[in-house]
Parts: sequence; C-alpha cells; structure tokens
Amino acid sequence: MIQGTYHFPKGFLWGTATASHQVEGNNTNNNWHAWEEAGKTVHKSGLAADWWGGRWREDFDRAVETGQNAHRFSIEWSRVQPTPDTWDEDALEKYRAMLRGLKERKLTALVTLHHFTDPLWVTEKGGWENDEIVPLFEKYVRKVVDALKEYANLWVTINEPNVYALSGYVAGAFPPGKKDLKLSMRVMANMLRAHAAAYRAIHELQPIARVGYALHYRPMVPRLKWSPLDRWMRNIRYNGINLAFPSAISTGVMKSPVGNQNIPEAKGAQDYLGLNYYSVDTVWFDLTRPGELFSNSGYPKDADLSETNFLANIPEGIFDSIKWIERTYPNLPIIITENGVEDSGDRLRPRYLAQHLHQVWRAVNFNWQVKGYFHWSLVDNFEWERGWTQRFGLWGLDLDTQKRIRRPSVDLYAEICKENGISSEMVQKYCPEVFEKLFPS
Ligand code: FCB
Repeated sequence: MIQGTYHFPKGFLWGTATASHQVEGNNTNNNWHAWEEAGKTVHKSGLAADWWGGRWREDFDRAVETGQNAHRFSIEWSRVQPTPDTWDEDALEKYRAMLRGLKERKLTALVTLHHFTDPLWVTEKGGWENDEIVPLFEKYVRKVVDALKEYANLWVTINEPNVYALSGYVAGAFPPGKKDLKLSMRVMANMLRAHAAAYRAIHELQPIARVGYALHYRPMVPRLKWSPLDRWMRNIRYNGINLAFPSAISTGVMKSPVGNQNIPEAKGAQDYLGLNYYSVDTVWFDLTRPGELFSNSGYPKDADLSETNFLANIPEGIFDSIKWIERTYPNLPIIITENGVEDSGDRLRPRYLAQHLHQVWRAVNFNWQVKGYFHWSLVDNFEWERGWTQRFGLWGLDLDTQKRIRRPSVDLYAEICKENGISSEMVQKYCPEVFEKLFPS
C-alpha cells in the first residue's frame, strides 16, 4: 500500500468558523430573532452553544487542544449597537475578552463583522434595501475595529452577501422573506458599497489590517450538457449567484441578471478572498420557476449526499473554486473561510474533510496562494431556517445539557492540524473507503 503525507506550507492557518447568532444564544435584538418568533424557522436558536454565557472558553480550549491555530467568529451588531444612538461597551468588552482568550491560546483570530444578522432598528429602517445602510454600517465597523484592533488584524467585512441577498429576497427563506430579484440586487449593491466603505475605514484605523469578505461560491454544471436551455440557465444562475460581488471588486461594475451597476469604490477593495465552499450545483431549465428566471438546481442522482440531502460531497469543486479565484485575481491570497457538512452520525464527515483537504493541497501545489482552512464548524450550531436539524459541528451539542459530544472527525482534524498535512495512515484510519482515491496504487 502507498504511504505518504500531503504537507501544507509552514504557517498555514488551521481553524474552525462560527457566527454570533449561531453560537452565542439569547440574541433577541436582531432580525433573526424576530424571524424565529414569527415561526419561520424549524426551531429557535435559544441558548445555542451558550457562548454569550461564557462557554466559548471551553470550546476555544477544545480548538487549541486539538491542534488548531486559528478561529473565525463574528461580532453581533445588535449587541454592540442595540439602538441607533447607543453603544454597549460591556458587549464590546466581552468580545475583547474572547479575543484575549484566542490570543492566550495562540489562536489567530479572523473576525467577521456581519454574518446574516441585523439589529432590529436597522431592519425597521429598511435594512439593506435602504441606501442609508452604508454610512450606518461604516459607523458600526469603525467602532468595533477601533475597540478590537489591539487583538485582531484579519477581517471579514460581510459573510456571504450573495446568500444574504438571494435567500432573503429571492428564495424567501431568510428574513425579510421577500421574493423580488430586483430588490435582491439592490441589497447586493448596498452590501458592496458598505463593504468598500468598511474596507477603507479599517485600513485607516489599522494600516496592517488584511480585509476581505467571504464569498459563497457555487461551481455549477448544466444537468444535460447538450441542452442549450440547461446551459443557458446554468450561466444565468452562475452569474447571478457567484459573480455580482467579484465582478464589482474586479471592475467597479456589479454584473447582475437585472442590469449592471457602477460601484467604482468597490474596485480593488480586498486584500484576500474568503471562500466558503460546500458543493457543486446541477442546474436545469424549469418552466415552473419564473421567480428564479426559470432555473432550478439540485444534485446528480448518484451523488454522495449528506444526512439531510443539503450537500453533495464533490471535493473537486473546491479545487475548481480556488482555480477560478486564482484565474480571476492572480496571486491574491485565499482563505477557505468555510467548508463542512451536516452529519450528526459523522459517517460522511471524515471522508468529506480528507477529500476536500486533498483538493486544497493540490491547489497549494500549483502555488495558488491558499493561506488557511476554517472548517464549518467547531460545535453544532443554529442553522438558520433549518434550526437544529443540521449538525455541522466537529463536536456535537446536546441542547438540554450543553454537553459537547466528541465526534471521530475531531481526532482526524486534530491529526491533520498537528501534522500540517494529511497522511495515508490518517486516511486508512478514519476513512479507508476513499484510500484508493487519495493514495492511488
Ligand atoms: C453558510 C453560512 C454559515 C452556515 C453554513 C452551513 O452559508 O455562512 O453560517 O450556516 O452555511
């Protein structure tokens, strides 16, 4: 049997990613709380993983004990600025304590400033539909960065603006639950303006900052390669979902299915790109979906599907995504800001993890500038409209007792982080079913 190790470059960041509303608990002053109260989610977030109650300490211990050297978490705007005219200094102090906690454990911090949630007062003003959001967001970012810059210099301005805009304004699964493509593009444009404003503000406050955003990038293939309609839909959907933000960062013009928009200040506003990669979509023409411009998407019949069919394990997709970034922005540093799978039984996760990291390793060996990998997630957390039905944690969470349950993937990931690579022994031990794929004889 072949033996060997796929090594990563020295200094590679190995971590996990979390987000405020998904782990903190008792977040009651934002749009997602209202959405939960309105019965729009399968479950409520409740106490979540109780990070606001202090359990971040034990979870950071878990991260460091298992060889990780970084962590990505987010700041909850509604806690820092509960009303338009007040700052909650105690909340900021708590975030400073968390950042000190990371530092003491020698975990590099990657701080997200907006991860899907908005303060209720922002929603009342029309949220991201209203152009006023741009200066409001900048003001909040200035306050937070000024308070935290002593401990962090790696920033994600906005997490998955495309998912926020499309889930909230086209699919209707996220608040405010609208179905209006044009409005979603207005939201996206405001997110671009706000990102650009934040990018500049952060650099002004902290010259050594590295600022980017996290893009949910979905590679896509037409269901029937020979079908012009499927191919056409694939392209429309691909451009609409993936390219709005990157096109504006490249050229200052936001490409969109409902028309292009000049946003000159967005041009060049990134020091790295955060990639959230989960799966590849198969796309086809569907007459019953006028709201989505007659396109639909799913996974191939024979796909290696996840527990709730939410994802298909298509590891080559992460390689293709990195390749696309490298082609679009040569030599731009890339951080994998999210990648993971919902799997309470941990049957798929070990091979999902090993196979995806093998593809990241391939990309690194083309000298593409991948600097780190953040697995989603450290511990089970509140999965938005899907509530607690999806378990993405390396550690499981028992909601009644707050007990953490160590899944086998914890040990696999720990071995990877400590080795700074994936070895044939690890694959043999944790996911022998893909050994031949990763170490072909
Ligand atoms: C991403 C989100 C993250 C989490 C994962 C599973 O789209 O950024 O908060 O829900 O999906």
